[in-house]
Amino acid sequence: MSRITFEKHAQDGKARAGVIHTTRGDIRTPAFMPVGTAATVKAMMPESVAATGADILLGNTYHLMLRPTAERIAKLGGLHKFMNWDKPILTDSGGFQVMSLADLRKLTERGVTFKSHIDGSKHEITPERSMEIQALLGSDIVMCFDECPALPADRDRIASSMELSMRWAKRSKDAFGDRPGHALFGIQQGGLEEDLRQQSAQALREIEFDGYAVGGLAVGEGQEAMFGCLDYAPDQLPEDKPRYLMGVGKPDDIVGAVKRGIDMMDCVLPSRSGRTGQVFTRRGVLNIKNARHADDPRPLDENCACPACSNYSRAYLHHVFRSQEMISGMLLTWHNLQYFQDIMDGMRSAIAAGEFETWEKDFHDGRAEGDI
Ligand code: GUN
Ligand code: ZN
Repeated sequence: MSRITFEKHAQDGKARAGVIHTTRGDIRTPAFMPVGTAATVKAMMPESVAATGADILLGNTYHLMLRPTAERIAKLGGLHKFMNWDKPILTDSGGFQVMSLADLRKLTERGVTFKSHIDGSKHEITPERSMEIQALLGSDIVMCFDECPALPADRDRIASSMELSMRWAKRSKDAFGDRPGHALFGIQQGGLEEDLRQQSAQALREIEFDGYAVGGLAVGEGQEAMFGCLDYAPDQLPEDKPRYLMGVGKPDDIVGAVKRGIDMMDCVLPSRSGRTGQVFTRRGVLNIKNARHADDPRPLDENCACPACSNYSRAYLHHVFRSQEMISGMLLTWHNLQYFQDIMDGMRSAIAAGEFETWEKDFHDGRAEGDI
């Protein structure tokens, strides 16, 4: 089986466009990965997710190991078959989710023990166990097992956490071994400290990975601080490998990250917001539960070709949201995912044409303050 390879086709400023070739198909970059935490992108059929233009999904070690368990998924033929998604899947490694979701967490050199947020049962994840789980799931892009503090945090805490994550990165690589057709990505840590980010990047480069993530951002620092870090962090990582910014973000975060040299991103925002009535459009954000939509015959976004915008009025979407009808979450999620993929498509074309700056100006100019 062939290796996962990254081919850069164009660069405009620091923004890059290319393709990650995998045995399950190409991933066009910059890529946005919808989140399918529990073996489903909530409220979406997999074929609908593909129809929005997504080339790859994100799955979660933490959730799937607890329910239905990685061993059960492996016995049933792996995560792709289990959830009926035959394109690439990237899985996160579990540590980050343990720290935000689990009870009674205990962090040691060996790994992390915790109690399940679902039933209180006791579990352990180590770098070795995380690699084993991600292999059982059949993940195409496996993430190193890492750990990171919420920001703001002391420099000492950020440094020791980063150093632990780099020792775990080496153990992850050793445990991953050689698996043709499957990629392993390292995760840079170091908070907002440029020298710690550099040390982390150096440690990861020495171990050698198929791709490199920027971790530890979008953890409470705000957009200005995050962009400040992204002004240097991607440059510290190898130029010829994909760079993945974890857990980001809002449309303007995504555009700002690509401008700074990021190739991949994931976020629950479009899918989660779809279920709470928050809608992202070319003109800005709206909340469909607002009474001002009750008589509005217009679509959510005049320039969107998704089913919600092609076939339904804001008035209808307002009605089904207020009535708590299932179709509300389905249509709003579809729209949000479509809009995020349209942004990625727009950026890929603009980078290829050498027109990223103009595209970015149009993106920002199209957005209104207040009611849209
Ligand atoms: N998701 C968002 N940020 C992170 C991170 O720093 N590490 C991991 N593993 N997942 C993340
Ligand atoms: Zn739409």
